[in-house]
Amino acid sequence: MSITAVQRFYRYHARVYDATRWTILHGQRRAVRALELRPDSRVLEIGCGTGRNFPLLLARLDPARGRLTGLDFSADMLARARKRWGTRGPVTLLQADATNFALPERFDAILFAYSLTMIPDWRAALARAVAHLAPGGTLVVLDFGRFERWGPLAPLLRGWLRLNHVETRAPYAEHLRTLLPETTITTHAGGYYFLACGRRTPQAW
Ligand SMILES: C[S@@+](CC[C@H](N)C(=O)[O-])C[C@H]1O[C@@H](n2cnc3c(N)ncnc32)[C@H](O)[C@@H]1O
Repeated sequence: MSITAVQRFYRYHARVYDATRWTILHGQRRAVRALELRPDSRVLEIGCGTGRNFPLLLARLDPARGRLTGLDFSADMLARARKRWGTRGPVTLLQADATNFALPERFDAILFAYSLTMIPDWRAALARAVAHLAPGGTLVVLDFGRFERWGPLAPLLRGWLRLNHVETRAPYAEHLRTLLPETTITTHAGGYYFLACGRRTPQAW
């Protein structure tokens, strides 16, 4: 398989990721709250990177009953995650592409945190995620918004993000609502980030 620009990007950025990203990635606590985890939830984070969100997720799981699967296509990011989480608790790490993975299990909670806007075929990634959502399950997307209230800074921020393989202008949340009609969408910090929270109805599948 040929390596993508994003995988190449993370060859270097994996080394500095944990030390730098706390400055720009926000809203994780809100996103994890929205997942409404139970102690026995089966959780999938798609584009989990180095596992920065794992402490927040694991804090809500019973290590004996809950499960956390982290999926990412960057071997370099996963190597960091594996170093920290590979042998600890109920964590499984998988190298796979979000747009075409197929797992035998279904999940009660699925999280995309700052990964969907880096995936050119994000519609396929959302479709794959919904296909892996258990009845009654919750899918949360946390990602950069469109910076609506950032005035002249907005185009600069969007342009800088594009240079870093992030496309902010696609209708991510609106599309999720077409897949899961019970989707709520909120934007925060003047459009810096958005949260889309979709639920799969318990009875309809
Ligand atoms: C900005 S990082 C976010 C990591 C983590 N979710 C966080 O909040 O710190 C984006 C991650 O998405 C992953 N990613 C991008 N495109 C992907 C794809 N098609 N399949 C799987 N992972 C992908 C990247 O490798 C990277 O680790």
